[in-house]
Amino acid sequence: MIVATTREELAKARQDLSGRVAVVPTMGALHAGHVSLLKAARSGADHVIMTLFVNPLQFGPNEDLATYPRTWARDLAIAEAEGVDVIFAPAEAEMYPNGAPAVRIDPGPLGGILEGASRPGFFHGVLTVVLKLLHLTRPDAAFFGEKDYQQLTLVRAMVRDLDLGVDIVGVPTVREPDGLALSSRNTYLSAEQRVTALALSRALAAAAAVGGQGAAAARAAAGEVFEGTPGASLDYVVVTDPDLGPAPEQGPARMLIAARVGTTRLIDNAALRL
Ligand code: PAF
Repeated sequence: MIVATTREELAKARQDLSGRVAVVPTMGALHAGHVSLLKAARSGADHVIMTLFVNPLQFGPNEDLATYPRTWARDLAIAEAEGVDVIFAPAEAEMYPNGAPAVRIDPGPLGGILEGASRPGFFHGVLTVVLKLLHLTRPDAAFFGEKDYQQLTLVRAMVRDLDLGVDIVGVPTVREPDGLALSSRNTYLSAEQRVTALALSRALAAAAAVGGQGAAAARAAAGEVFEGTPGASLDYVVVTDPDLGPAPEQGPARMLIAARVGTTRLIDNAALRL
């Protein structure tokens, strides 16, 4: 496995990769969810590049950039075990040599709702770094988790609207046996908060159980779970179509939830049949 920290090193390593190349963009702090992305990439391509970069552009002034878990030695060992060919782990000055970029990707209206409503500039930051990483790694396919469903939807939209010519593959969320969706931010939770955090996956299950009665019933069922869970404060619970447009009367839909447990903001989502 080659570890490239500069663009030059990456370009050189990329030249030696032939056939179908997949990229898995990450911010490190790898968990089983990332491992499933790496496995999916490995089985869908001849070579895998993993990027490892905690992107300051997607953190707000009061967010956790400084404390975001950094476990790079462990991350490299996991990547190696999963057959990654090249890791691109640039320093901030390598990624943004001229400082914070003046030109950024505008995610459009979808970037201003849900996560974008409470995290202004978040998706500008995500799409800008993803576009740079796609240009630098020149992959045939890029793999993203469904856990960040709005991010996945916006990356697909960017690739479509800007003709990037990269296959975007969404990989199902990996959960703990009790339903908690894996997230690098779960490490912020105390044992008690971790139990409280199960409200998100329980709400999704409660909604799915009544999906046949329509979007309002599904939202109400999810809301009831939060009413019965002190310590979890709901930010939003929405039902949309699979592309985050308005919920259909019936058929395939998506429920997305964001909630705060203590100071930790958690998100989860699941497919729903109305
Ligand atoms: O999902 C993430 O870890 C990040 O948002 C990504 C896609 C690596 C961009 O920094």
